[in-house]
Amino acid sequence: MKICRTKQEIRDTVKAFRSAGESVGLVPTMGFLHDGHLTLVRTAQSRTDRVIVSIFVNPTQFGEAADLDAYPRDEARDFALLEAEGVDAVFCPSVDEMYHPDKQTTVLTEELDKTLMGALRPGHFKGVCTVVTKLFNITTPDQAFFGEKDYQQLQVIKTMVRDLDMPVGITGVPTVRDVDGLAMSSRNVRLSAEDRKAARILNKALAYADYEVSDGRSAQDLEEEIHAFIAREPRARIESIDVRDATTLQKVEGKITRPVVILLAARFGDVLLIDQRVAHPA
Ligand code: PAJ
Repeated sequence: MKICRTKQEIRDTVKAFRSAGESVGLVPTMGFLHDGHLTLVRTAQSRTDRVIVSIFVNPTQFGEAADLDAYPRDEARDFALLEAEGVDAVFCPSVDEMYHPDKQTTVLTEELDKTLMGALRPGHFKGVCTVVTKLFNITTPDQAFFGEKDYQQLQVIKTMVRDLDMPVGITGVPTVRDVDGLAMSSRNVRLSAEDRKAARILNKALAYADYEVSDGRSAQDLEEEIHAFIAREPRARIESIDVRDATTLQKVEGKITRPVVILLAARFGDVLLIDQRVAHPA
């Protein structure tokens, strides 16, 4: 497995793959890898000849400096996991390597940026779009792989690629969960034992909501019911509960007649967890 710390090294590596006629898949990550990330890697390996994983904790997508500092990192462990998966190359640049000191260009999905998590965390998706565009430009993948867990992020990236005619295919991969149903996340290690247990309420609420959607609820009633369901768990501090159109992420008026995505964000201690599920009306 080739470890590339500079743009030039990864460009040269990709060039060698391309001259051998091989297709290239990219899995962008911020490291501290778990089975969710590794499932993206395995999906990529099934679709492209060569797989590159990027590991870069992108400062421009973090609102609070404290959140960026608290983000877990373990490069040696990440490399060992990726090596064991048979990944071809890792791109792990420093912040200075990635960003020009006088940078002034960004990429923004105007409407999606203002909704949901975008409204809660101003500038977050602009940071994501800009870094992902840079990663695409640096590694020129044929396909890139993103988790459905970060549902809005996946829609933002698909929209950006469509609007800017980026020559890359985007594949969404279903959320990987622990045996107790908690969606895998690099943030889970920061949960106390009690909060880890309490956080199971999120997946339970999604299962409940899925059932209620097939029973013909309106989006607004459903949001209220989910709120009451999660509020039964005293350790959960609800940040947002949204039932939205599964493709446009727009609000759904009246009875649900098309697939919706149920998006949850809640804090346990100081750890913000998100989860999602797409539900289909009967
Ligand atoms: P990160 O949080 O490290 O996630 C990297 C990828 O793994 C994302 O596409 C995310 O949706 C996916 N992922 C995380 N947990 C998952 C799970 N339990 N099941 C399936 N997929 C999962 O998302 C980012 O990094 C960054 O915003 C990034 C796209 C790398 C840009 O900086």
